[in-house]
Amino acid sequence: MDGHIGLKKIGSHASISEIDDFDLSRLLDKPRLNIERQRSFDERSLSELSIGLARGGMDNYDTYSPGVRSGFDTPVSSTRNSFEPHPMVADAWESLRRSLVHFRGQPVGTIAAVDHQAEEVLNYDQVFVRDFVPSALAFLMNGEPDIVKNFLLKTLHLQGWEKRVDRFKLGEGVMPASFKVLHDPVRKTDTLIADFGESAIGRVAPVDSGFWWIILLRAYTKSTGDLSLAESPDCQKGMKLILTLCLSEGFDTFPTLLCADGCCMIDRRMGIYGYPIEIQALFFMALRCALSMLKQDDAEGKECVERIVKRLHALSYHMRSYFWLDFQQLNDIYRYKTEEYSHTAVNKFNVIPDSIPEWVFDFMPTRGGYFIGNVSPARMDFRWFALGNCVAILSSLATPEQSMAIMDLIEARWDELVGEMPLKISYPAIESHEWRIVTGCDPKNTRWSYHNGGSWPVLLWLVTAACIKTGRPQIARRAIELAESRLLKDGWPEYYDGKLGRYIGKQARKYQTWSIAGYLVAKMMLEDPSHLGMISLEEDKQMKPVIKRSSSWTC
Ligand code: GLC
Repeated sequence: MDGHIGLKKIGSHASISEIDDFDLSRLLDKPRLNIERQRSFDERSLSELSIGLARGGMDNYDTYSPGVRSGFDTPVSSTRNSFEPHPMVADAWESLRRSLVHFRGQPVGTIAAVDHQAEEVLNYDQVFVRDFVPSALAFLMNGEPDIVKNFLLKTLHLQGWEKRVDRFKLGEGVMPASFKVLHDPVRKTDTLIADFGESAIGRVAPVDSGFWWIILLRAYTKSTGDLSLAESPDCQKGMKLILTLCLSEGFDTFPTLLCADGCCMIDRRMGIYGYPIEIQALFFMALRCALSMLKQDDAEGKECVERIVKRLHALSYHMRSYFWLDFQQLNDIYRYKTEEYSHTAVNKFNVIPDSIPEWVFDFMPTRGGYFIGNVSPARMDFRWFALGNCVAILSSLATPEQSMAIMDLIEARWDELVGEMPLKISYPAIESHEWRIVTGCDPKNTRWSYHNGGSWPVLLWLVTAACIKTGRPQIARRAIELAESRLLKDGWPEYYDGKLGRYIGKQARKYQTWSIAGYLVAKMMLEDPSHLGMISLEEDKQMKPVIKRSSSWTC
């Protein structure tokens, strides 16, 4: 069963969870691996969960069984019962509802920020696809799916528009970064205006929007049990168009997706061009979500599924082998030989050990690990990116052992990654000459600010979901407590600055909708962990576990 503990099943609607369990090997016509399956989180009963989790997690994952955690800078969770409604929750709901946008009388999304406290109302009136995701989850968890359905249909409609930057036409499947509704009070008409990158700073198309759209479609289906939307010809076509953009064959030698800088949450130059972890994790998750929803009643559907299955295999192998970094792996890279030419090369991408930055040697705990920011020829970006790592856990791109190791790292490096406000978007910050070269002297992305080591409250929902999935709710509780001590008082800022995230961000907007929604989603998930199923996929039993690097190179 896929990750939905106790989710309501409505008659025939239960089938999505069965499709989620797709047997990839069978589809590929490969022999099944005989791996004894660990009993997963998703199979546990809720009562067992709350007791088991309070004790410190899933002790049935062999490599990273918690054991004694002395020596770790593990925060002690407070004794306050976090399930009692916090006074902030009501305020958050009120602010979230204020951000709702209507199109012809129907709510279709939430705008990025509404600051009613400011002297004049400072609205950021675009509905960003990625920003709407936590809002959508909050509404789904609260039993209000219609807003989400309207949003999915509206953005699907926008996908059909012809998109151009100057004289160049973008791919059919591209989803907008954002849209807004223009109300004409005289004519009483509503008009939509969308941005696919042609107005965005830097003119970059959002690669993440389509992936979030597919992930949200599954969350809607999973939470409502209503299969009719995902199965409608329009949604089926929308999914295929998004995936066609990514599954086409070309000059690629890697299964990862090649991207321009600034094509996701980090939407300006930050040196993430190439194969950024955020996109690879979202790509993997979207492929798995699509697999559970695509119909195979014609040759086109079958072919699409076949391509997805093949890509998933290659992508998980590549990511788990080459993006993964732990103490052992770091030591191996440190000792790499260079200029190897042949199939048997160990240092496949010709990474020069001298390019390993100093900080990573101190940062890497003996126990723990993470997916690094980027891997391409002679280039490994060792920075930590929170979103990609959390999505890797939720999508099960990370093996259970890797997921536990990521959580171990967060605990071991709590001051660096969480500090006084969850959660650093990236770590560490780049500064001086490197900042000049990498960001192009971006004054908004100075060290420990914004995308460059800033702390983003919206990431709270992702880390909470990852904590619940890995059986570490005490970490989420501690993070939520930090947020509760400041967020409302500070007016729900977009981001915080500083090494510890102590300062409200230099140019942070107040009443930022996804800061508000992220908090609500984190609270609701912790209160009722069955919500996790909307946004989490269990490990695919048939996906090959990663073989130790030394023995895998010649395969
Ligand atoms: C900033 C963020 C981006 C977000 C947008 C709207 O540009 O970097 O991720 O979608 O603001 O909040």
